[in-house]
Amino acid sequence: MSIFDQQHERRQTNSVKWDSIASTYHKDNLLPLWVADMDFTAPSCVQEALLDYVKQGIYGYTLFGDDLYEAIINWQKRRHHYDINKEEILFSPGVVPSIAVSIEAFTKPGDSIMIHDPVYPPFAKMIEENKRKLIRSPLKVINGHFEMDLNKMESKMMKENVKLFILCNPHNPGGRVWTKSELKHLGDLCKKYNCLVVSDEIHQDLIFAPHQHETFHNVDADFADFSIVLTAATKTFNLAGIKNSMIFVKNPQLKAAFAAIQEKSEQDTINTFGLIGTKAAYNGAEAWLTELLDYLQKNSVFTINFLQKNLPKVKVMRPEGTYLFWLDFSAYNLTESQLNKKMIEEAGVVLNGGYTFGPSGKQHMRLNIACPKATLQQGLTQIAQAFKE
Ligand SMILES: Cc1ncc(COP(=O)(O)O)c(C=O)c1O
Repeated sequence: MSIFDQQHERRQTNSVKWDSIASTYHKDNLLPLWVADMDFTAPSCVQEALLDYVKQGIYGYTLFGDDLYEAIINWQKRRHHYDINKEEILFSPGVVPSIAVSIEAFTKPGDSIMIHDPVYPPFAKMIEENKRKLIRSPLKVINGHFEMDLNKMESKMMKENVKLFILCNPHNPGGRVWTKSELKHLGDLCKKYNCLVVSDEIHQDLIFAPHQHETFHNVDADFADFSIVLTAATKTFNLAGIKNSMIFVKNPQLKAAFAAIQEKSEQDTINTFGLIGTKAAYNGAEAWLTELLDYLQKNSVFTINFLQKNLPKVKVMRPEGTYLFWLDFSAYNLTESQLNKKMIEEAGVVLNGGYTFGPSGKQHMRLNIACPKATLQQGLTQIAQAFKE
C-alpha cells in the first residue's frame, strides 16, 4: 500500500476544494475532483520543518536566507538543468499575483495580451481585471493532444500588436508538456514581434516519463532577454495554502520593472510558512516526489482504462504532466448547464466546467486525479452511472 492510498478527511478544514461546494450546490456528500490541490498530506520533512518553527514560538519578520536561495538554485539545477543565481530570483505570495504584477510592469492599460484557449482561467481574469485587451489563440487538438497554432498566433500578434504572451508551461488543463522545439518556435515568434513572455511553470515538476519539462529560459540563449519564468514548490508538494512562489528574471531591466511594481504595495514580503515549506521540500522531498509521480501515473492509467471501458464516448486527453485530465463530453450534446447539472445531481461529483478555461472549453470538463485511487474510482464510477445509456 502506498502512503498516497490513505484517505484523509478534508471536510471542515476550510478547504476550498471540499468545503466551498456545499454552499454553492446546497448538497452534502458531493465528491470534489476539481480545484488543483491534492488530497495527500505534504512530505513529512515539510511538516516537521513547519512544526519546528511553530514550536519556537516567535513569528516575527523573516529574511530570505541564503539557505533558501540555495535550495531553490540546487533544485532548478538538479531537476531542470537550469542555472539561476540569487540575484535573478524574486519572491511573491503566488504565481497568479506575479502574473498580475507582470501585466502592470510590462504593459499599459489597453495593450493586447495573448493567451492560449483553453488555459488556466486566472490568466484571462488578470488581463481583464487590469484593463488590458484579452487575445485568445485557440490550441489545436492533433493526435489526441493540444498543439499550438503558430500561424494563427502570428496573424493575431501582428494584427493586435500583442505586447505580452502568458504561457502555461506545462499546460493546464491539457497536461501538455511542451517540447523544446515547440517552445523554440513560440519564442522565435514572440521575439520577432517584440512580445514579452511570462512562462508560468508551476507544474514543472509534475512530469511523466519520457516527457521532459523545458524551462523557457533554457530553450534558447536569447529567450531570457524577453521573458520571465514563474514557478513554486506549492503545486508539486501540495503547499498552496502556505503561499510562496518565485520569479526567475535574468534581464535586469525586466527585473527592475517587476520589482518596482511589487515594492509599490509591499508584495515582495512572504509568509514565513511559505519560505520554510519551500526550503524543506526542495531539500528533503525528492524521494516523496518520485513516489508521488509513480502514484499519479498509475491513477492516470487507471482513469484512461476506466473511461475507455465505461464511457467510450468521452474523449480523453492523456496528460504528459500535471494531475489534470481534460475530458471532451461533446458526444452527449449537452449545454454547459445540462452537463454541470448531470455531474452534480446525477453523478454527485464536482469537476471544473471546461467553459471557464475559454470558449473552446465548452462541453469539456477538467478532472483532478490527485487523490487516493479509491476516491478516484468512486468518482469515476458515479460519473459512469450518470452517463449510462
Ligand atoms: C497554471 C497555474 N498557474 C498558477 C496556479 C496557482 O498558483 P498560485 O497559487 O501560486 O497563485 C495554478 C493552480 O492551479 C495553475 O494551475
